[in-house]
Order: sequence, then structure tokens, then C-alpha cells
Amino acid sequence: MDLQSLRYPIIQAPMAGGPSTPELAAAVSGAGGLGFLAAGYRTVAELRADIAAVRARTEAPFGVNLFVPGTGPRPEETALETYAERLRPDAERYGVRLGDPVADDDGWAEKLALVAGERVPVVSFVFGLPGREVVEELRRAGALVLVTVTTPAEAVAAWEGGADALVAQGVEAGGHRGGFTDEGDLGLLALLRLVARHTPLPVVGAGGVMDHAGVAAVLAAGAVAAQLGTAFLLCPEAGTSQPYRAALASASATALTRAFTGRLARGLVNRFLAEHSAYAPAAYPQIHRLTAPLRAAARRAGDAEMINLWAGQGFALARDTPAAELVRELGTGHTR
Ligand SMILES: Cc1cc2nc3c(=O)[nH]c(=O)nc-3n(C[C@H](O)[C@H](O)[C@H](O)COP(=O)(O)O)c2cc1C
Repeated sequence: MDLQSLRYPIIQAPMAGGPSTPELAAAVSGAGGLGFLAAGYRTVAELRADIAAVRARTEAPFGVNLFVPGTGPRPEETALETYAERLRPDAERYGVRLGDPVADDDGWAEKLALVAGERVPVVSFVFGLPGREVVEELRRAGALVLVTVTTPAEAVAAWEGGADALVAQGVEAGGHRGGFTDEGDLGLLALLRLVARHTPLPVVGAGGVMDHAGVAAVLAAGAVAAQLGTAFLLCPEAGTSQPYRAALASASATALTRAFTGRLARGLVNRFLAEHSAYAPAAYPQIHRLTAPLRAAARRAGDAEMINLWAGQGFALARDTPAAELVRELGTGHTR
């Protein structure tokens, strides 16, 4: 599999937490783009079923995205406890207990074995660099290996680490900052040009791309394809919840926050983000675990003010369009 061989230079971003369903990935791949499943937060059994569900719908290539487990410093217990204290009134209002703020590796070894065993055509990584042995094993299993980067230094490290291609994620992007740390804050245009200066690898551009003209801009800046997340959130095949869909249609701004997960992510501004961002420690995935019961309760209640509503800066351009139609609209007529 080679990104140049896609009929359209359009990649549907993996979106952990529900939005990127097998139906969405299959519709995008079937239409000539590249659909992605997100392995993040899924069990191995769920991921296996997701892969089978894509394959039942299309023979076209697709990707799976994995979270590289953290190697960051351990957060101070007292910082976690102070933040938990702050969230307790919200938890009481919903009658739920906050989650245990423990770290885990999201099933790293088992998920790697699964994607290699299943011979998934494209495997992308976010939040870090997989080891060279991992890259080589996946390549032996026939996969194209992509690594997400947010700075030129990360791009060079990924190149040296054996990646086949890079996903350059600009600060405009919805969802978590995908670099090795969450501190990279370059805009997509500057990042694409800097990465091209520092590595010879093919680069996919992600962040704020919402329409045909946006895709043209990313290709003109040297990318081999554009990766779009927010643009697909309103597709009928996406797993985006109803309160999330309604918020996308009515919100006025996005912001970066650690309030929900302890790692910087861009989402629509709501009450939880506005009240807690200034106090959240850098502690991923501990804060993700701590807030999970709150967010689940808010989703059940349809309360968009307490859900993480990940979205990129261009969210107001998102439209409720079937995914295959959107891929054709985004991708038709581009030259690479
Ligand atoms: C709801 C949502 C969930 C996301 N989850 C993931 C993920 O699991 N893995 C990943 O590599 N990127 C994830 N991202 C980031 C995307 O890969 C991509 O960088 C981003 O969507 C591009 O910006 P855009 O949303 O403005 O198109 C997510 C983005 C969104 C909006």
C-alpha cells in the first residue's frame, strides 16, 4: 500500500472515543479515500470486531491507529488529588464517583500483535515513536507505517526510527495534540514546510482542513494527502453523539485544554472546559480515567457542557453529508 495510489488524497482521521466507526472507515475507503479505525480506548476484542466489520463492507485498504504508551514524568499525587477535589461537585451533581486516576498502556502489546496478525494495510501511531522492532515487524506483516509529528525534531526522529510516512498535525487540529509531547504548537502550513526541509518522507497534512480548497492548500504545501477529522464528524456513518452534533452546529469557538484527559486537546468551548482548564495537571492518561465516569454520565444525560467535544478550528464548515459523497467532493480534481 502506498499513499500515492489512493484514488483521492483524502484520509479520514482515526477518532477515538466513538466517532470513527467501521461504517465510516469502510465508506471512506470504499469511495477511494483511506478510512481509519481508532484503536485508542477499545479492548482488543472490540478492535478485532471493528477490523472484521470494515472488511465485511469493503475490500479497499484501510488503517488502524494506535496510542503509543506514555513515557512522561509521573504526576504528583497531590496534583491529581487537588484536581479531583475540584471536580467532586460535578460528580455529585451527576451522582457518579470519579474514576481511579491510574495509568495504563491501552493494551499496547496485544493491539500490536492483532494489527500485525490481521495484516492491516496501514498502521499509524500517535503520542510517540514506536520502537524500530515494532516498525520492522509491521512492515514484515505488509503494513505501511505512519507516525504523527508536531515539530520538525519529531519528524527527524520518526524518519530515523524507520517510519514510511509522517502525519504532520498542525495546532489547528481537533482532538489531542498528537506529538511525542503535547507542546508542539506550529500551524499546519509552517509545519509542512519545515518537515519537508528536514526529512525526505511523504507527509500527510492534518489540522483545520475542511473542504476542497483546504485540501488543495495542503497539497500545494507539499503534502501527499490531507487527513481530516472534524469534517467527518457530522457524517451519518460517524458515531458522533447527538449532543456533540448539536454543539458542532451551535458552538462559537475551540480551545486547547487538559481539563478532560490531562493531555492538551482542542475541543469546542463548553462549561467544563472553561471552568477547569486552568487547573488541570499534565497527567495523561490519569486525568482521562478520572473524568471518564463524569463524561459518560453527561453523555447519557445529553449534557454537552460536560463532554469532551473535540473539534478543529474549522468546525463551522462541517456538514451532514454521507462520507462517500464528502470524499468525492473533497478529493475530485486534485493534482499531486
Ligand atoms: C473527535 C476526534 C478524535 C480524535 N482521535 C484521534 C485518535 O484516536 N488518534 C489520532 O491519531 N488522532 C486523533 N484525532 C486527531 C486527528 O488525527 C487529526 O489530527 C485531526 O482531526 C485533524 O484536524 P481536524 O479535526 O481539524 O481535521 C482526533 C480528532 C478528533 C476531532
